[in-house]
Amino acid sequence: MSILSNYSDGFFDVSAKYGFLPIKAPMVKLPNVYNDLQSVLDQMPVVLNENEFGLLNTIDAIVAPVLAIKNHLQDVEKEEDIFVLQALFRSYSFLSSAYLLEPSFQQFRKDGKYGKARNVLPANIAQPFCKVAEKLNVFAWLDYHYAYSLGNYQKIDAQGDLNWENITMCNRFSGQPDEVGFIMLHVDINRFSADLVGSVMHTIQALYNGEKSVGNLLQQNWTTMKQMNIRRKEMWKASRWQRYNDFRIFIMGVKGNTELFGEGVTYENVWDEPKAFRGQTGAQDDIIPMQDIFSGVIFYYPQNELTKYLLDLRLYRPTCVQDFFKDLEISMKEIHPKGLMGKLLENKDITGLCFLLGILEEIYHFRNGHWQFVQKYIMANTKYAMATGGTPITSWIPNQILSVIHQMEDVITAIQQLGTTDNVTAQSVYENNTKLLASKKGLIEGQLALIHKNDFSAEAVFALNQKFGYDDTE
Ligand code: HEM
Repeated sequence: MSILSNYSDGFFDVSAKYGFLPIKAPMVKLPNVYNDLQSVLDQMPVVLNENEFGLLNTIDAIVAPVLAIKNHLQDVEKEEDIFVLQALFRSYSFLSSAYLLEPSFQQFRKDGKYGKARNVLPANIAQPFCKVAEKLNVFAWLDYHYAYSLGNYQKIDAQGDLNWENITMCNRFSGQPDEVGFIMLHVDINRFSADLVGSVMHTIQALYNGEKSVGNLLQQNWTTMKQMNIRRKEMWKASRWQRYNDFRIFIMGVKGNTELFGEGVTYENVWDEPKAFRGQTGAQDDIIPMQDIFSGVIFYYPQNELTKYLLDLRLYRPTCVQDFFKDLEISMKEIHPKGLMGKLLENKDITGLCFLLGILEEIYHFRNGHWQFVQKYIMANTKYAMATGGTPITSWIPNQILSVIHQMEDVITAIQQLGTTDNVTAQSVYENNTKLLASKKGLIEGQLALIHKNDFSAEAVFALNQKFGYDDTE
């Protein structure tokens, strides 16, 4: 039997104590030996402050400063502290994306079309960057964990919490508040991940110990997901959708984006052939993937390109997170071949099943609200239909919503077979969901029909969500 424990690399520690966040705040600046690199990063954002613009604001202005940075390969080789390695990875990935994608950004400013990116990363950057990536065992490209999001925050008021209004980015591209709000909200949502991971680990332990009723633990998971969804909705305030293009181009990946990068990026004096890694994306976040494995949504995943992509993205995470997902999947299958739902049914745990239904509803809200983000922040802003992670965004995401609804139907049927529960909260979760299922199905069918029509638009998706009472902005 697998017991879930020890998923740490010294920076992350997936556990009931830290969830998916680093064990302490990341380093804000690099050690002195890297001052030349730090200084370019500090001068880089499009906007530096109310009165000053940075290097990215001017065509080609970043080139000479980047070429002048010392090749720190030997310094990087000596580094052993994981917090220094993480800060170096973050720094080199920001610098590389800024340098390579700056021409695409300038073209976009001119005519609204993403132009060709540079596709050769000079040796003075490529060599130390790839060395630090090798030490962390990740791809040499801006990622979500060590670089853009979870490993990129600093508190504004040291006594305050990780609310997005009290955290800011260590490194940035646009330098504007919409970029900060957008990515810091991901950190904000993850401040509840310790409770979520805790509820998952404790449920598994309880089921391994032979406990027949895990309703209280699933209730904790459900209430944490509710809290996360409340925070998720802050996106509309934290980052104005009209401003997403100020920074989106800089978080693009190479894989799937041949229009920008052609064959890929050549890392000078590292590899002979060009490489194409995926871009940073919230799809590298761990909350929904963990919940999918734990709740059993993965049994309902459609056979499509998004599913393949989501599995491919597992490789774009720190090794300790990848190991956690693998063991979690094994554990859920050991508990029951049909996962959590199978075990709750076998145990006749009606309360547990009701809270499982509540958890699924929150995964549904997360995905349906998220689909509305994609509409406004991406579809309403640009004709470039390729996501930063390299997926054709229009068609795939709603299929994942459908998977959740299918499992909800099966859980409702299972509860109907078993009867009712005395737990008033659990019973009301069940009753509400039974009532609302038809509207969820009507909405997803409408959304999928829109995708297959040529007149698909963000406005049409919003009108449908309003009609069914699921407008995420309200
Ligand atoms: C304005 C806000 C957001 C936008 C525009 C957005 C955009 C996208 C896009 C385009 C995808 C498709 C896959 C790809 O990257 O190629 C995606 C997937 C995903 N995003 Fe986001 N995202 C946003 C916020 C978030 C947040 C706050 C989270 C979680 C903290 C998140 C988690 C995910 C997950 C888990 C997936 C995988 C698809 C799924 O499992 O349903 N996203 N996102």
